[in-house]
Amino acid sequence: MQQLISLLSEEMGRAFEAAGYDASLGQVMVSGRPDLCEYQCNGAMAGAKKYHKAPFVIAGEVAKHLEGAERVFNVSVVKPGFINCDVTPAYLTQYLSEMAKADRLGVETSSRPRTVILDYGGPNVAKPLHVGHLRSAVIGEALKRILRFHGDNAIGDIHLGDWGLQMGLVITELKHRHPELPYFDENYTGEYPAEPPFTVADLEEIYPYASGRSREDEAYHREALENTHLLQEGQRGYRALWEHIIHVSVADMKRNYENLNVTFDLWNGESTVNDIIPVMVEDMKKSGLAYESQGALVVDVSEESDSKEIPPCMILKSDGAALYTTTDLATIKMRKDQNDPDEIIYVVDKRQELHFIQTFRAARKCGLIGDSCRLTFKGFGTVNGKDGRPFKTREGGVMRLESLIREIDDKMLGKIEANPDIPADEAKETAKIVGLAALKYGDLSNQASKDYIFDVEKFTSFEGDTGPYILYTIVRIKSILKKYLDASGRNPADLAIGAPSGVAEKTLMRSIAGFNRTMQEAYEELAPHKICAFIYQLSNDFNSFYHGTRILTEEDQTQKEHWIALLYLTEKVLEICINVLGFDAPERM
Ligand code: ARG
Repeated sequence: MQQLISLLSEEMGRAFEAAGYDASLGQVMVSGRPDLCEYQCNGAMAGAKKYHKAPFVIAGEVAKHLEGAERVFNVSVVKPGFINCDVTPAYLTQYLSEMAKADRLGVETSSRPRTVILDYGGPNVAKPLHVGHLRSAVIGEALKRILRFHGDNAIGDIHLGDWGLQMGLVITELKHRHPELPYFDENYTGEYPAEPPFTVADLEEIYPYASGRSREDEAYHREALENTHLLQEGQRGYRALWEHIIHVSVADMKRNYENLNVTFDLWNGESTVNDIIPVMVEDMKKSGLAYESQGALVVDVSEESDSKEIPPCMILKSDGAALYTTTDLATIKMRKDQNDPDEIIYVVDKRQELHFIQTFRAARKCGLIGDSCRLTFKGFGTVNGKDGRPFKTREGGVMRLESLIREIDDKMLGKIEANPDIPADEAKETAKIVGLAALKYGDLSNQASKDYIFDVEKFTSFEGDTGPYILYTIVRIKSILKKYLDASGRNPADLAIGAPSGVAEKTLMRSIAGFNRTMQEAYEELAPHKICAFIYQLSNDFNSFYHGTRILTEEDQTQKEHWIALLYLTEKVLEICINVLGFDAPERM
């Protein structure tokens, strides 16, 4: 369905034309002064120069042609040349009725669906997930769903960090602790044990220990580098051990991501492209684009228009080892060969921006990807504590994702338990559902690139711009709809929308009508926060209407049916939005 704002603009444009001006001046916007009017058009100001006429005069002439218009009324002209207007109740009612009947509530799918790979999650094997991984997962999942809702073929790839020094560190430490294991016996030719020689808990203790020690112990550090190299070269025992590490670690990650309602289509990692790196590097050398500098292999990526220097992109270290950039470049090549995407979107901490500028430029320069594929870095800001510094545990350590989720869930449980109607096990389930909404909405309602403060108190509140508030609104509507169904036996889905009975109802109706515009903007700008802002406004508008209207006790049956139909539509819009954001609503709370 065409956006309401564009339908109103069409009519405004025709009035400009009828008055002798260009129709394109008739762009209508939501009013900046909702106390004065619902919509406004600033086209007369824009046309003043072109037509050498005072904007107020132009606006007056245009307004004459809007007398008796179908879509807008209450037209007034305000100095210096604003055209203020409201949508006619009849037109708004007709628009919502069509929306209620349309597929996907009037949001059309793209006529040219694109293939888009989303690179998000990005956890590192053998390291526990911490608060830093939250945003990539939450934003990436929402973007994937926004793209899919639009009709694109969106493919989520977790891009595991499974190939770097951290693997060498874990192997080194295991070797120190258990030198007797067959993995470290170079003469061993038999099968390796099927059971890993460690648990997740062991890994979680081993990695930080090894990483700490390598920072202080130079010989240990060198040993870890050497072991990383041997692993990458394919040493049999190390490979077998590495597979155990991946297996144990990935099983744990899956559980964590499941709790976040985040899923991936591909569980590829840095190691996936190991075998294609040598050929890629050879080609880069042959073309002359990659050259040796101080023993390392680099590609120049600076451009004349750069305002700050972009250093060359390092492809191989002087010891011949591949780097983070190398695996990212090879991954671009692999994605091109396997999926030929129209776009690759990276949802990564914004502090990695330089790395991606270098990688994207090198990929284009070396012909790994053509111009038809857009490469997008969607950098996100830091999750801070109330002190404005990166979020930490009370003891000052790195906050594990699991602990963070538990903290929110516990807080939520306390609140849900206050409702005596909800039995204990349902309360637990509900706390999880609402807790996830609190967590995700708290994150997604901020523009991705900005830092935000992780405030458990605020995120879990049932009031204000929070996930629980949105869910509470949905639950409230569902409960009214159910009561109506039980009492009347009539399905709310079969009822017709009616003309607004008052200001609050009309405001709610206009809010609902903004649904397709919001989805379009969120898609174009990769901006889940726009959906959050929309459902917050919609919930506020619904609650204002609800508090001023006695719906279920209304005597006039037709009036009541209109209201129930409107509630039904409101609820459907909210449900679609939270689903796209990646969380659900409980039956009650
Ligand atoms: N594992 C990386 C990190 O923890 C993030 C990976 C992001 N994706 C990528 N293609 N580089 O910093």
